[in-house]
Amino acid sequence: MKSGRHFLDLNALDSESLRSILTQASVFKESTRAQDVSLLEGRVLALVFERPSTRTRISFQVAMLQLGGQAVVLSLEDSQLGRGESMADTARVLSRYVDAIVIRAMKHKTLLELAEYAEVPVINGLTDLSHPCQLMADIMTFEEHRGPISGRVITWSGDGNNVARSWIHAAIRFGFELRLACPVSLSPDAKLIEWAETEGGCVTLTHDAKVAAAGADCVVTDTWTSMGAEATKSRRQLLTPFKVDEALMSFAKPDALFMHCLPAHRDEEVASSVIDGENSVVWDGAGNRLHAQKGILSWCLT
Ligand code: CP
Ligand code: NVA
Repeated sequence: MKSGRHFLDLNALDSESLRSILTQASVFKESTRAQDVSLLEGRVLALVFERPSTRTRISFQVAMLQLGGQAVVLSLEDSQLGRGESMADTARVLSRYVDAIVIRAMKHKTLLELAEYAEVPVINGLTDLSHPCQLMADIMTFEEHRGPISGRVITWSGDGNNVARSWIHAAIRFGFELRLACPVSLSPDAKLIEWAETEGGCVTLTHDAKVAAAGADCVVTDTWTSMGAEATKSRRQLLTPFKVDEALMSFAKPDALFMHCLPAHRDEEVASSVIDGENSVVWDGAGNRLHAQKGILSWCLT
């Protein structure tokens, strides 16, 4: 790499680096300093999308603009990627034009291929296996509302998907207890839970959402059908017992937060009364994508 560093996954980074990104993110959020406006002056970020996005795309574009740089967006349909040009070749070419690349990839191995061949920092904007930018915003949001997340209990109820996997990474790096409640066939890879154990973390998997939610400080869920998955009737049936509704929230602490990376499907994975309720921090979480990603960009590029 010419200069800078990749932001590929939380488990690939140490706790100190992640904490420094969040500290910087909060400084950006609070700041009206003129020097922020010129931090990335003259820098250009490429955003490559193999899947749709609202939050990731706009928050990275706005982050670059507010830090003095610019962003360009490339999607499969309007680039040679859609006609089969390899990610390795795309990485070599983009590295001659831009200072960093964010990618939302269908397959995690595409992210790794991009990172291997790019000469500029690469940021994971979601793959089938993880969503680390989301987690940085989620940790920031929890801590703004409830103080340090270390030692607290977070419950994941639903599909053991890419976001759930990043919550596992986060539990280890930020030192909180994570209880996952997922259907047997939609649980995260056992190897990842084993990894958490070898790291000395407290990550447990159950198939009973109530057990996982008991006394929790925060309950989190996500769509039942991630991009690339098939929305089948059996999937819906499997996930129905993991819906986050008021009955499930009643097992958590009375002031337990509710989080969701969005987009949400009201009255499917989450009851309207929960996502629109007073302990839901989903809009703050979405807003913090902007600030957390400024922290990530600044860590990658300066
Ligand atoms: N949470 C999230 O990444 O949203 P988008 O798919 O809109 O980017
Ligand atoms: N798990 C979801 C997250 C969307 C931001 C998906 O991959 O579609």
